[in-house]
Parts: sequence; C-alpha cells; structure tokens
Amino acid sequence: MKITIIGTGYVGLVTGACLAELGNDVFCLDVDQKKIDLLNNGGIPIHEPGLEEVVARNRAAGRLQFSTDVAASVAHGCLQFIAVGTPPDEDGSADLQYVLAAAKNIGKYMTEFKVIVDKSTVPVGTADRVQAAVQAELAARGDASKFSVVSNPEFLKEGAAVEDFMRPDRIVIGCDSTPEGEKAHGLMKKLYTPFNRNHERTFWMDVRSAEFTKYAANAMLATRISFMNELANLADQVGADIEAVRHGIGSDPRIGHSFLYAGAGYGGSCFPKDVQALERTARQYNQDLLILRAVEAVNDKQKLVLGQKVVKRFGEDLSGKHFAVWGLAFKPNTDDMREAPARVLIKQLLDGGATVAVYDPVAMTEARRVLELDLTAEEMARIRFATTPMDTLTAAEALVIVTEWKAFRSPDFDRIKSSLKQAIIFDGRNLFEPEVMAEAGFEYHGIGRSILTRV
Ligand SMILES: NC(=O)c1ccc[n+]([C@@H]2O[C@H](COP(=O)([O-])OP(=O)(O)OC[C@H]3O[C@@H](n4cnc5c(N)ncnc54)[C@H](O)[C@@H]3O)[C@@H](O)[C@H]2O)c1
Repeated sequence: MKITIIGTGYVGLVTGACLAELGNDVFCLDVDQKKIDLLNNGGIPIHEPGLEEVVARNRAAGRLQFSTDVAASVAHGCLQFIAVGTPPDEDGSADLQYVLAAAKNIGKYMTEFKVIVDKSTVPVGTADRVQAAVQAELAARGDASKFSVVSNPEFLKEGAAVEDFMRPDRIVIGCDSTPEGEKAHGLMKKLYTPFNRNHERTFWMDVRSAEFTKYAANAMLATRISFMNELANLADQVGADIEAVRHGIGSDPRIGHSFLYAGAGYGGSCFPKDVQALERTARQYNQDLLILRAVEAVNDKQKLVLGQKVVKRFGEDLSGKHFAVWGLAFKPNTDDMREAPARVLIKQLLDGGATVAVYDPVAMTEARRVLELDLTAEEMARIRFATTPMDTLTAAEALVIVTEWKAFRSPDFDRIKSSLKQAIIFDGRNLFEPEVMAEAGFEYHGIGRSILTRV
C-alpha cells in the first residue's frame, strides 16, 4: 500500500520503517531539512535498537523515502499518517498547531480520496478539528474530494519501539460510520492484517474512544509509578523495603508485576504531557481529575528525592564536593532527555555548589544539548562529560545512579570502591540489594529501602 507519514520523529520514523518492512511503499515527510538530509545520507536521528537496520534495508529496497516536499507527500499515500509532535501548551493542554498544520497541507494538495490517520497522541475531539481543517482547505479550492479521519494512537515504548511496533499488544483503531469511514475501515484492516496473523489484536471502536484510550493508558501507567513512589517514601520512613512490598503485591494477578517500580520519577515525552493534557481536557468539561493531579504532584516531588538524599547525607552546602552520575536519558535504551529526572538531579547538585562528572551509554550528545539550555555557562563548566562509567568516579564523594541501563547492573564494585573518595552509592533505580552492598562495604541509599539503616 502507498503510505505517507507526516512527521519523521520517534513515532513517524519507526512507523514508516516498520510499515516499509512489511512491503508497503512509504514516503516520510518532515519540515526539518537537517533531519531529512541526515536520513537521506544513511544516518539515523535517534537511538532506537534495531531501527538503523530496518531503515537501511528498506531504503535500499526503494520502499522508504524521506523528503520535505509537501505536495509530493500528499500525492503519494492513500493513507496519510499524522505523526507530528503534540507538546504541552502553556496551560498544559496539547498544542495541536503541528497536527492542524499537517491537516491543512493535506487539504491544500489532495485531489482524490484520502484516509487521514491521527497517530499523534491527541485530545478527544481532535479528529473533528482535523476534519474541519481539511474541509476548509478543500472548500477554498472548490475541490470535492472525499476523505475520512481515523484515530490510530501509537503505544510503542521508546527503547523497544521497533519490537513494539512489529509485535504490538494491541492495535486501536477508531473509525466513524459514514461511507468514507467504512472505506477507511477496510483500508486500515488491510494495512494491519500482517500484524493479526497469530491472533486478532485490533480493537475497533469509535473515533473518540480511540483518542481517549491512549490517554487512559498513559495515565494508568503514570499512576502506578507515582503510587509506588509515594509508598516508597513512606517505606523509607517506617523502615520497610519497597522491593519486598512490590513482590508481595505484584503476585496478585489483579495487580500484576509490571510497572510497579519505585524510582527517581517518570520523565520522557509522553507521561508528563499526556497526564497534563488529560487533566486539561477534563477541566474544559468542568471536571477535576483528582487522581491525576496527585500523580503529577507526586512525580514532581519524586524527581527531587535523590538530590534530597544527597543533601541529607552531605549537608546543604555541597561546594568543594564532587559527584559521579550514571545515567542521563529518561530511561534505558534511548537518548531521549525530555523531562529526564537526571536534569533535575544535576541542577540540585550544582545549586548546592557541587561539581559533577556524568556518563550515559548513548545520551551524551543529547544531554549536553539540553543541559546547555537548562543551565548557565558557569554551571556547565562544573559538569564533566566522562567517556566511561568508571571515568566519572575519580575524586567523587559518591556515585548517584539515575537510569537503569543494563551496563550499570553488575559493575566492578571493587573498582568503584577504590575510585570513589567514600564508598557511597545513591541508587535512584534500586538496581542493587542493600544487604549485598553492605557486605561489599558500601553505604547504600536506595528508594524506599531504608530497612538496613534501621537494623
Ligand atoms: N515518543 C514516543 O515514545 C511516543 C509514543 C507514542 C505516542 N507518541 C506521540 O506521537 C507524537 C509524535 O511524537 P514523537 O516523539 O515522535 O515526536 P518528535 O518530536 O520526535 O517528532 C515529531 C516530528 O514532526 C515534525 N513535524 C512537525 N510539524 C510538521 C509538519 N507540519 N509536517 C511534517 N513534519 C512535521 C518535526 O520536525 C519532528 O521531526 C506525539 O503526539 C507523541 O505524544 C510518542
């Protein structure tokens, strides 16, 4: 099938590459000329396991092209996927300017039937706005071409995006019941048939329910994280181990083990903005989503917890003190630094007067870019970007771990101990066992694991 993807970011590039892998003829559009040039020169703008190979293979096979040519992109695909960003507006609502700009472009150039697929995460009712934007452009040109707007939210996880796209837990598609909607239903069914060979994974529903499903999913996941973080902080107070508690509750099938990890708070491009946008939608309907307000407040506080533990241990004045930081990306297997807890931690340490040496397996370049936006030149001068994890440790008072990269899970503890000034680890992801750390001679501070300081 001929497919156009509008917006070649995390979602657009993965969607385009994976649909090409299944034999479709895919045209990826972006307004960012540099990104398109990079892709056309064989580069990849993001770190995502397996993506580079899929892109290279399908470019070579002539099934995947990258361009900034809007008219050509509209002419190419019968299916037009909108996968542009929907960042938070000043009031927390989703900023739809890029989605609506993409819709307008389609209306401006289309001359035959199109299915317009909202893949970006967009508030309930956005399909109607996309419909109106396309219709206005058609009317201005006196073109009577028909189209249908479909909601097909994306559930991939950064760091496992290719795998998630190729083997989805579910595919959610919302179509309306007009004749154009029926036609769109048929085309979407055909497109997704290869994903349903083993068993049916598609949930067909109305457009608004599909739009809502994406927010409900992210809000639920964010709620589980904040719930565990809040309980972890209490566990620290009462002398319980949140990891034992996690196993104790996760074994109940009604609760389950997934997504129950206490840590340094959630970040990334989705949970923070989607929780806010859903709250904002509710307010437009005079409803206050009390649970989600709390989820957000707990997360904002949680991002400060690691830094507060450092201050509690070393005092408010950290001047003259040096710290090693492992992990900068908001989660492992990505270089995405959007809303990453490491940004908050680093700022706290610098505010206290400390110097830091930081390391991340893939996010060093992106980290430098975003930290330069966050910090002053004087603050940047107090950060050293190390080339290996061990290289961060020299002369550091303690090691602070913020992202649970696999490479940090079984480090050479003897080397860590001999490199650090003091054998102290602040573990923002509960990678290690307190008993094992104590035996190895470390002073260990996890999240919600203070039981050892009690016994
Ligand atoms: N990143 C994720 O893990 C993830 C997962 C599921 C859903 N989503 C949702 O998918 C959407 C896209 O997210 P992302 O992380 O891929 O964003 P991104 O910022 O990585 O990519 C968006 C791309 O769209 C381009 N763009 C903007 N306006 C354009 C236009 N008019 N025409 C063509 N290109 C345009 C930008 O230049 C950019 O390259 C968001 O709504 C997001 O909430 C993201």
